[in-house]
Amino acid sequence: MEKVLIVGRGGREHSLAHKALQSGRLKVFIAPGNGGMLPPLIRVPIQEHEISALRDFIRQEKINYVIIGPELPIAKGIYDDLCDLTTVIAPPQKLSFLEASKAKAKQFLELAGIPTAPAMIFTRDQQAEMESYLRAATYPLVLKASGLAGGKGVFIATSSQEALEFARGCLQGQKYGTAGQTIVVETFLEGEERSVFLLADGKSYTLLPVARDYKRLLDGDKGPNTGGMGGYAPAEDLSWIEVVREKVIEPTFAALLRMGLSYHGFLYLGLMKVQGEPYVLEYNVRLGDPEAQLILPLIANSFDEILYYYRIQKLGNLKIRVHPGYAVGVVAATKGYPEAPQKGHAIYFPPLEEGGSRLGEKTLIYWAGVEKGESNYLLTTGGRSYTLVGLGQTLEEARKQAYAGMELLPFEGRYYRKDIAQLNTCYS
Ligand code: AMP
Ligand code: GLY
Repeated sequence: MEKVLIVGRGGREHSLAHKALQSGRLKVFIAPGNGGMLPPLIRVPIQEHEISALRDFIRQEKINYVIIGPELPIAKGIYDDLCDLTTVIAPPQKLSFLEASKAKAKQFLELAGIPTAPAMIFTRDQQAEMESYLRAATYPLVLKASGLAGGKGVFIATSSQEALEFARGCLQGQKYGTAGQTIVVETFLEGEERSVFLLADGKSYTLLPVARDYKRLLDGDKGPNTGGMGGYAPAEDLSWIEVVREKVIEPTFAALLRMGLSYHGFLYLGLMKVQGEPYVLEYNVRLGDPEAQLILPLIANSFDEILYYYRIQKLGNLKIRVHPGYAVGVVAATKGYPEAPQKGHAIYFPPLEEGGSRLGEKTLIYWAGVEKGESNYLLTTGGRSYTLVGLGQTLEEARKQAYAGMELLPFEGRYYRKDIAQLNTCYS
């Protein structure tokens, strides 16, 4: 049996592990994982940044594949640290700028001629210029901390007063530390958001189902940005994907090649569809969370097949087959998320099959910020606690399935959106 090690601890990693388990041909380890992940998944008590312990473990266990879930280890160069030992599904550090620096990504997009919102970039020593720009600008305007901020570094300002307050907080380092000391200020785009994913192997790539993520905290797409409060998939048909391929994906790979770089690993294109045209809001050098939880259950190919094609660099020959129907995911977070999430509340945890993820025939659960409590209980550790995924032949059926599942796992102080897959479902 081949062995796969998944690095990370959230719902995305649980869904990767579940997909790997379902192949029946992989032994699946997760470092460090979370308390909701059950056997036959094997948790390994090594943190994402403990490179030498990860190296020892990979050698000892003769791990065939390592998949990196979150962006931080990728930005720190975990691919380069491990790639001599095994097949690592992640890009090298030199490609992580696509996500880790919104300023560099914006310059890359502009140079490559890829549609994106026009932007200005300001650094710490340009506060005066930035202030006069913000005073004269028209609103709404989008302000982004350039560095990694867990999906929470974007602010949509409706007035110069709001913009100035956010931008000053960033540049002075109070809001996001060094991640906010460069900011990107860009035009607000009105349209429908889409998350497009692909897996590349350095020579070719294959497209995964498209998802729609709900990033704002509150119903009606209001409140602060979060890591993602839910979503649905598939959110597009194939004809639009061809437009994305031509206008975004091919020019991205061509521009990287001109820089002497070829991409491998998951790539996430955060797009705004404006009158049919795809505009890039951001690149992420990994799968999305909660999007992974929605798209992986829809993929019919077995995971070992996908990993094998990655290793032999022939993903271009692999047709991703998608199960008919829809997946809808609703995220349960703890009260106070994203600014000051509470923790320590108990969740009843029934003994679930398939590594802690099978809640029903058409209901899956992927655990995130939870640790083992007493007997049949988990304890929340703050932030997003789980993603409940409903499957159905129609979007409405999948949505009902997901919300019915939410009834089964309440906990004190739980917060979730009630309008996932109901609001702005322009495609169904
Ligand atoms: P980002 O991290 O750059 O994807 O931004 C986070 C979220 O902010 C996106 O998912 C959008 O909902 C919103 N956003 C970002 N840029 C823009 C833009 N130019 N116009 C409208 N909304 C945006
Ligand atoms: N759901 C958006 C992200 O993973 O960044």
